[in-house]
Amino acid sequence: MANNKAAVKDLISIELPVHIGFIMDGNGRWAGKRGLPRKFGHREGAKAFESIVKYCKNIGIPYISFYAFSTENWKRPKDEVDAIIDLFRKYIDDVRKHIDENVRVIFLGDKSVFDDELRRKMISLENDSKDFTAMTLLIAVNYGGRDEIVRATRNIAMQVKNNQLEVSSINEELFGNYLDTKGIPDVDLLIRPSGELRLSNFLIWQCAYAEFYYTDVLWPDFSPKELDKAILDYSKRVRRFGGV
Ligand code: IPE
Ligand code: IPE
Ligand code: MG
Repeated sequence: MANNKAAVKDLISIELPVHIGFIMDGNGRWAGKRGLPRKFGHREGAKAFESIVKYCKNIGIPYISFYAFSTENWKRPKDEVDAIIDLFRKYIDDVRKHIDENVRVIFLGDKSVFDDELRRKMISLENDSKDFTAMTLLIAVNYGGRDEIVRATRNIAMQVKNNQLEVSSINEELFGNYLDTKGIPDVDLLIRPSGELRLSNFLIWQCAYAEFYYTDVLWPDFSPKELDKAILDYSKRVRRFGGV
């Protein structure tokens, strides 16, 4: 998708990233600064998520992934975890109110921890949207990059054990097909708001050659204007992929 040109404003005529990853961080601090409980920050963060999804579709970004809940986030107090999972549940119930038809949705992460009802809804949303072509939206819940690699390795090992796969046929391409992101191009631009300079276990395989963009803006304040800044910054990078 080399000619993925932007359609609007400042972005006209620049090369857009094909896949943008977002680490939606800073919700708790956003709430704390206002003397509110952390869950209010998550609610506000969900609004920012919706506006960024819409904007990405308008400007023509083909793949966007969002880190919503990590395998490590279970360490948080139960009421905060419950508030985040409730927001997620509501989002899935009303998903067609939030995103228009023709957007494919894929969940990254281990779904097995969720109750049957939620898991079924996640799977049917993936199935119902699998032929939609306007954009692919990847949402990472109970996701950890290391966990994803371990799950892939287990599946590969099982196939070798059952004589369905030769050890010699295991290469990077095959391995990628066992990840939750099977068929999805690697991340081009990884955006982390809130001032933290780390990956926190997000798409560690898929970000091998991603361009990183950090900002102090907290996720609930991350607006389409902030995204424009990130994309413009990205457009000035020289990507060498190990070459010259
Ligand atoms: C990110 O915001 C949302 C999740 C991790 C679910 P945080 O809740 O981590 O917000 P801060 O980093 O404490 O401000
Ligand atoms: C990363 O944020 C996870 C999500 C945004 C879902 P964290 O707030 O959990 O990351 P750390 O703990 O600061 O590394
Ligand atoms: Mg955080």
